[in-house]
Amino acid sequence: MSNALERLQDLEPSTQEFRDAVLAGLGQRQRTLPCKFFYDAEGSRLFDQICELPEYYPTRTELALLADRAGEIADLIGPRARLVEFGSGAGIKIRLLLKALDRPAAYVPVDISREHLMMAAADLARDFPKLQIAPICADYTKPFALPASSGLQPQTTVGFFPGSTIGNFTAVEARAFLTRARRLLGPGSSMVVGVDLHKDEKILVPAYDDAAGVTAAFNLNLLVRINRELGADFALDQFAHEARWNDALGRIEMHLVSRSDQMVHIGASCFGFRAGETIHTENSHKYTLDQFRAMAVETGYTPRAAWTDAAGLFSVHMLDA
Ligand code: AVJ
Repeated sequence: MSNALERLQDLEPSTQEFRDAVLAGLGQRQRTLPCKFFYDAEGSRLFDQICELPEYYPTRTELALLADRAGEIADLIGPRARLVEFGSGAGIKIRLLLKALDRPAAYVPVDISREHLMMAAADLARDFPKLQIAPICADYTKPFALPASSGLQPQTTVGFFPGSTIGNFTAVEARAFLTRARRLLGPGSSMVVGVDLHKDEKILVPAYDDAAGVTAAFNLNLLVRINRELGADFALDQFAHEARWNDALGRIEMHLVSRSDQMVHIGASCFGFRAGETIHTENSHKYTLDQFRAMAVETGYTPRAAWTDAAGLFSVHMLDA
């Protein structure tokens, strides 16, 4: 019998792409670094730790929602589906759907973190031996193609984008992503998207600035990665983690704040930082149910269903493409 785990399609961003993005971001007036580069092996490990933190409600809330609604979602999806997950990470959430689905045909996990992706895909292949698994290491904000299906002919294709990762995009980026995903998945497909909801700042800020300092380590790890992969000399004790609620834009922002006037070198480039100046490393937009539905409609989807937990912390939307 052939192995159901297919060979990796490897489109991992190169060091050159990483360098170009870092130099471009640090050259802006408000310096920025793209949050997708958080996820090297150590960053992925730290992210998995964040998901277990008492302050970080999204993961456990979404998991409980998916566990409660998996049967309903599976009924809406129907038999022999091919699932395409954007940012598959440790692959825990997809198991809830796979267990509930009627004879799922294939699973295409797409993730920027290659080691993490391969480990998760191998674990899943062991637990779902009949499932065709075709992993793709890629930055899914860039174009890529779905693999030709080997084995079972899928009856429908479903995109799965959990974790409110859509919140890491600005409104413009989120619309572009939804539009591209709709084209990638094709006619008759659908999307299941996890979206974090608006709530009190007193809940939001600690979720991104936990007492144990795991989120701080996750944010600072980006500088560790730049030092290692790009030969930079960021002094790690000279930058502080900060999480802020931006009320006007409805988002949590993560920054790295320079603790002093200092110079940082990256290869032949040199950057001067003033004390208090920041590098903006991540946005996490929060939506209302209606705001997200409106965005889905604008990008050509038909909202089919939406579920929230009893406390109204998090939502899962099902959209027809
Ligand atoms: C990648 C969207 C799941 O923005 O909440 C967690 C990443 N950053 N803590 C989020 C993150 C800091 C996370 N997601």
